[in-house]
Amino acid sequence: MKSVVGAGVVVTGAGSGIGAALARRFAAEGARVVVNDLNAEAAQRSAAACAASAGSAGRRVISMPGDAASADGVAELIGRAREWLGEIDIYCANAGVANIGGAEVDEAGWNLSWEVNVMAHVRAARLLLDPWLERGEGHLISTVSAAGLLSMIGSAPYSVTKHAALAFAEWLSLTYRHQGITVQAICPQGVRTAMLDDLNQVGEQLLGPSAIQPEAVAEAVMAGIADGRFLILPHPEVAGMYERRAANPDRWLGGMNKLVRSLQAEAD
Ligand SMILES: NC(=O)c1ccc[n+]([C@@H]2O[C@H](COP(=O)([O-])OP(=O)(O)OC[C@H]3O[C@@H](n4cnc5c(N)ncnc54)[C@H](O)[C@@H]3O)[C@@H](O)[C@H]2O)c1
Repeated sequence: MKSVVGAGVVVTGAGSGIGAALARRFAAEGARVVVNDLNAEAAQRSAAACAASAGSAGRRVISMPGDAASADGVAELIGRAREWLGEIDIYCANAGVANIGGAEVDEAGWNLSWEVNVMAHVRAARLLLDPWLERGEGHLISTVSAAGLLSMIGSAPYSVTKHAALAFAEWLSLTYRHQGITVQAICPQGVRTAMLDDLNQVGEQLLGPSAIQPEAVAEAVMAGIADGRFLILPHPEVAGMYERRAANPDRWLGGMNKLVRSLQAEAD
């Protein structure tokens, strides 16, 4: 079992929701935590909450606001985090965005999804890998989504970019696992955060009933770190859905289409 006590951890998008819960949990477990968010006030508030939950070890939490997606933003975050932590042991690429719609979503909407949900992970890996390979150890945890294994009804940019984020995490894992690099992908369904609250009624209908609290995701992540599995599934039933999709794609697509039609009929 891998311990996080004393580990240097960076969590992006940790000003709220899943990232904030991860940061609090890492701090409570005794890690040294860098709390990043685009929203500086949220990052500050979340870092203060982490420090409080870490008790006497609270001084080992710092807020580092900024953009964790752009090339410059990622370079600044990783540079400053390295200065403060020494080396980054665990990097949680958690920041994400969701927007509703299909092909008609405009270029800016698609670009934002690519930048935050995918390129943020690529840019972080680019800077993290060399030092990790040199010391034979490093750990990347990507917050993907069940949408990366399945799909998300009503959001093409989210489905597509979360599939890409999962593909990138898989690629890193299969390429570097023999060199001490651990890569894990968190793939929850609905989680009670601002992101879920901001989705439309269809999102709430689909994900609301089985939604879990962000703390439950953090709990699943701790169990995942302990056993090292690639896929961290805070909703265990997602494993069966993923299997059924792979075993019979047409049947799965037919079932999903039926669900889309019933949601449309309800909305009309
Ligand atoms: N809530 C869900 O139902 C759910 C389900 C599966 C996966 N996820 C994923 O979990 C992750 C966290 O989402 P959440 O549900 O906690 O939502 P959230 O909106 O509460 O948190 C996301 C945070 O990311 C920050 N952020 C956005 N862009 C950023 C950037 N470029 N740099 C730094 N910070 C940035 C936001 O300011 C926000 O505080 C996302 O990747 C999301 O796709 C969420």
